[in-house]
Amino acid sequence: MGKGGKRSVPRYPEDEDKGGGCCGCLCWCCCFLFLIVAALSGTAAYFFFVYKPKAPSYSVNNMSVSRFDFSSSDLTLYVKLTASVRAENPNEMIGIKYGEGSHTVVSYRGTPLCSGKLPAFYQGYKNVTVMDISMEGRHGFGSGLQQALEESEKLGDIPLDIFVSVPVELRLGTVDLREVRVNVHCALVLDSVSPKKKPNIKSATYQANVEF
Ligand SMILES: *[C@@H]1O[C@H](CO)[C@@H](O)[C@H](O)[C@H]1NC(C)=O
Ligand SMILES: *[C@@H]1O[C@H](CO)[C@@H](O)[C@H](O)[C@H]1NC(C)=O
Repeated sequence: MGKGGKRSVPRYPEDEDKGGGCCGCLCWCCCFLFLIVAALSGTAAYFFFVYKPKAPSYSVNNMSVSRFDFSSSDLTLYVKLTASVRAENPNEMIGIKYGEGSHTVVSYRGTPLCSGKLPAFYQGYKNVTVMDISMEGRHGFGSGLQQALEESEKLGDIPLDIFVSVPVELRLGTVDLREVRVNVHCALVLDSVSPKKKPNIKSATYQANVEF
């Protein structure tokens, strides 16, 4: 078939044009995509080669509980504790800016006990900073919570989850990159949460993710 049929003449050239345009557009898109991918991988390679980025690491190396009071009159639990968090920036050329608007929560089996925030500060290259994060909260508790906590305390096995969410900006030389939110979940097991006794950290596991 082709341009033989007179009646269809007006239609075919139109279709051919459309086909040709589409193919050209596709080619152009492919080239463009290829260029973008090449440029991005080049930038990434350059970034990794020059800045050698390494993930910062966090650990809770000390906990102290100053208040842990059940009030049976209004069924609330008042908790005040301090977690010492060691943050290490292992990078030689990347600074880390911890912003305002962070949030930390300590919870016991899904029940939040207390909350606080991280200080906003800039952490330079190859720096280790230990921050004392004090957290405080009064929460209502169900009848099961006090009993469960007392049992955990007796066993010397108190699982606590610490959730940290903090806005972070990376600084490459003098350039600040876009702010991202880093979320860290630390599952701790303490041997005690009584203010009378210094708690020991029996185990700790960490998970982190970044929200872009
Ligand atoms: C843990 O914190 C307590 C109270 O703040 C302090 O006395 C103690 O020296 C700290 N221990 C370590 C190993 O940092
Ligand atoms: C690490 O950074 C903190 C916060 O900027 C600073 O106070 C501290 O002196 C630094 N430590 C070292 C060893 O440079």
